[in-house]
Amino acid sequence: MGFDRPARGGGFRGGDRGGSRGRGFGDRGGFKAGGGDRGGFGGGDRGGFRGGDRGGRGGGFGGRGRGFGSPGGRGGFGDRGRGGRGGRGAPRGRGGRGGGGMRGGKTVVVEPHRHPGIFVSRGKEDALCTINSTPGDSVYGEKRISVDGENGAKTEYRIWNPFRSKLAAAVMAGIENIWLGPGSKVLYLGAASGTTVSHVSDVVGKEGLVYAVEFSHRSGRDLINAAKKRTNIVPIIEDARHPQKYRMIVDMVDVIFADVAQPDQARIVALNAHHYLKNGGHVVISIKANCIDSTAQPEAVFAEEVKKLQSEKIKPLEQVTLEPYERDHAVVAGQYRPPAKK
Ligand SMILES: C[S@@+](CC[C@H](N)C(=O)[O-])C[C@H]1O[C@@H](n2cnc3c(N)ncnc32)[C@H](O)[C@@H]1O
Repeated sequence: MGFDRPARGGGFRGGDRGGSRGRGFGDRGGFKAGGGDRGGFGGGDRGGFRGGDRGGRGGGFGGRGRGFGSPGGRGGFGDRGRGGRGGRGAPRGRGGRGGGGMRGGKTVVVEPHRHPGIFVSRGKEDALCTINSTPGDSVYGEKRISVDGENGAKTEYRIWNPFRSKLAAAVMAGIENIWLGPGSKVLYLGAASGTTVSHVSDVVGKEGLVYAVEFSHRSGRDLINAAKKRTNIVPIIEDARHPQKYRMIVDMVDVIFADVAQPDQARIVALNAHHYLKNGGHVVISIKANCIDSTAQPEAVFAEEVKKLQSEKIKPLEQVTLEPYERDHAVVAGQYRPPAKK
């Protein structure tokens, strides 16, 4: 399927350090080294700390059916690991201008992923995908596959590239729960031009809603265009540091997803949670270590961020590192004001 790892734009600072490792927190406080064989996609331990012993869950395509265990056997996005072609600064390879529809027909089988609303196309190469809510359209040049249903009806899926989306990377890394699915109301901070937002829009479907906040007007233009066809996206061109500015637009939400790549991201998430996240709702946060402290070890940065979240009444539930899709990144999931245990 030939995806290149894209060059990065807006909001990122350069510079990478190698060797991130996942870490985790125990449900009952204290740290433990992340670990567990996550069976798939090589690269990097994955942090744990998810209350209860659920270690060892396979990453990638959810442990269904086939084994994707060996490095290079990742299917779909396999030949662009870090250091492979399409490294940082390489031209954007988006699988061809206009994306184009691939004829899946009967040769491609699409199966549900264990995360509701996400699918896996099993073909010559396997890939994550979401049901295209606007069949015939690509949002950012991604490939589409049309699959024949039993009664002759077709369903179109959009391929979701984990090299271009931290949420997809977290799914591939085996995150246990992304806390959003069909019907969810999501506040998405750092929407950029809507790449991941568009897949979240597919996942939450007609019953769900994605409030997509982005402060760059340039990216915001693409976001607004994407929202013209995808009516469950509400684009908000504002600074997420001032959530009161969108109080007339945003309702209470089930989950906040944040990918603002800012040093004060934890504070930004907390401010938004205090305004819009229902008690017991969840946050899912992508943390880029470099953006917060380029001199510290990524693990130490992740741990500090988690502490900040805890001080804002967000209980950490899970942490995964995003190798090999992103270096020195982690995605942390947590629960806001969890109900008291009976
Ligand atoms: C890493 S990019 C997001 C990529 C996007 N989540 C995706 O997967 O398609 C970070 C984005 O956050 C935006 N951003 C940074 N600080 C922000 C803030 N305070 N308020 C709103 N957007 C912000 C940047 O302009 C940038 O577009």
